[in-house]
Amino acid sequence: MNSENKRLVRVLDTTLRDGEQAPGCSMNLTEKIEVARRLEKLGVDIIEAGFPASSPGDLESVKAIAGIIKDCTVAGLCRCRESDIDAGREALAGAASPRIHVFLATSPVHMEYKLKMTPEQVLEQAAASVRYAKKFCEDVEFSAEDAFRSDPDFVCRVFGAAIAAGALTVNFPDTVGYAMPAEFGGRICYIREHTPGMEKAGFSVHCHNDLGLAVANSIAAVTNGADQVECTVNGIGERAGNASLEELVMGLRVRKDYFSADTRIDSTQLYAASRLVSQVTGVKIQPNKAIVGDNAFAHEAGIHQHGVMVKRETYEIMTPQSVGIPLNRMVLGKHSGRHAFEERLKALNLPLDGEMLEKVFAEFKDLADKKKVVSDRDIEVLVMDTAVTVPETWKLDHWAVNTGSALGASGVIRLQHKGGSFEKLVSMGDGPIDSIFKAINKIIGREPELELYEIGAITGGSASQGETVVKIALNGRHWNGRGVSTDIIESSIRAYISAINVMEWDLGKKE
Ligand code: KIV
Ligand code: ZN
Repeated sequence: MNSENKRLVRVLDTTLRDGEQAPGCSMNLTEKIEVARRLEKLGVDIIEAGFPASSPGDLESVKAIAGIIKDCTVAGLCRCRESDIDAGREALAGAASPRIHVFLATSPVHMEYKLKMTPEQVLEQAAASVRYAKKFCEDVEFSAEDAFRSDPDFVCRVFGAAIAAGALTVNFPDTVGYAMPAEFGGRICYIREHTPGMEKAGFSVHCHNDLGLAVANSIAAVTNGADQVECTVNGIGERAGNASLEELVMGLRVRKDYFSADTRIDSTQLYAASRLVSQVTGVKIQPNKAIVGDNAFAHEAGIHQHGVMVKRETYEIMTPQSVGIPLNRMVLGKHSGRHAFEERLKALNLPLDGEMLEKVFAEFKDLADKKKVVSDRDIEVLVMDTAVTVPETWKLDHWAVNTGSALGASGVIRLQHKGGSFEKLVSMGDGPIDSIFKAINKIIGREPELELYEIGAITGGSASQGETVVKIALNGRHWNGRGVSTDIIESSIRAYISAINVMEWDLGKKE
């Protein structure tokens, strides 16, 4: 219960596991750590940091996050296999509050075709895995994958066995996003009432968004007694994603008159968390996305603008500040001093000090020299880029391109390798970007495939900075890079080099 006598619903954030495993959402270790720190600040109860047995990289990142995070439980996902649970136990050894999360499918289609197991074998393996995990970790969660398409009475039996074996939370996922809200709420009620020992365990739900109902279904579950929701920042995740954390939290908070439940999330941190996740994954937030989209608080129609000016409540059900969007979109420029800059950082929920502040302030001064006004978005990008870095194996020294409609394009680039020697190359290509990227490939001696190249403006207007996002792949592995500059070719080069540096860092650990 909180101070308003509301039942507290726990938030398990799975941005770093279910979110990160979605195509195009991968993050490197430093990015994952930065996101985990943000989630801790946001006040989530449990951070699901990864799936340790799925790859050595995942094990390493769960271990790193477990060693850093102190104010949240850190969970690792494991199949119901001893080897997976061993990997989970190793990854979580340093956690202040570890949780092993085991899962096994219970729906007929999964049991018959994927697992090739009978229901009785599933029941036995679920209980045995919880018992095994319990030897190393007090806090064990059991998930019945594809629970919504499973026989409800069978789920009750499996949940009952998991609870008897020591599970402290049982999770009911709608893995394929098939449920309708009233139906889902009814099912949660049924399972809660018919599971033996349910009063000894927490009841969680995990909804996917294939029909756009993940948040609605999760809220229906809360009204029917669920006391944990699993979700991701910006709703990223497999296919159409998971329930969006910010929508769930604000749904319960804004309609506190209607719900008897709330979360312990600090909603003023939602916007900063959303921007960070978008930044590190390269997945843009749609402008009309509820709560955190650019247009979520924009009033275009004259009648709406007039109404909001006279009385905000005419068209606004929550304030931008309540989700951490700064009140006045103040702009800074080249005459702004350190004090104004620091104040702006605080207003944006991005307080910095020490070396980081010095670095970002220097970058800000550089940018303010090139651009008349520096917007909040520009500052957010500067902070993220400075906070989330890997070693600069390759650094841009200078570049030039020659292009036109009659001629092909040629590019020349000079890169510095590990702070030492310089390498310069000229290359022809199919346009300026292609020619420069080819020259870079020749210098670094690798030819990653360019899977995505996206260019946009950080703010409106021709003085805006260009922001480029690239995704590259080599031997089935993928890396993201982002670059920002007042020149769009330079932002593209910076994005490509940043992806290459992540790739070099990642491959360097194995070579
Ligand atoms: O969607 C799902 O069923 C899952 C489980 C592993 C919790 O992600
Ligand atoms: Zn899932």
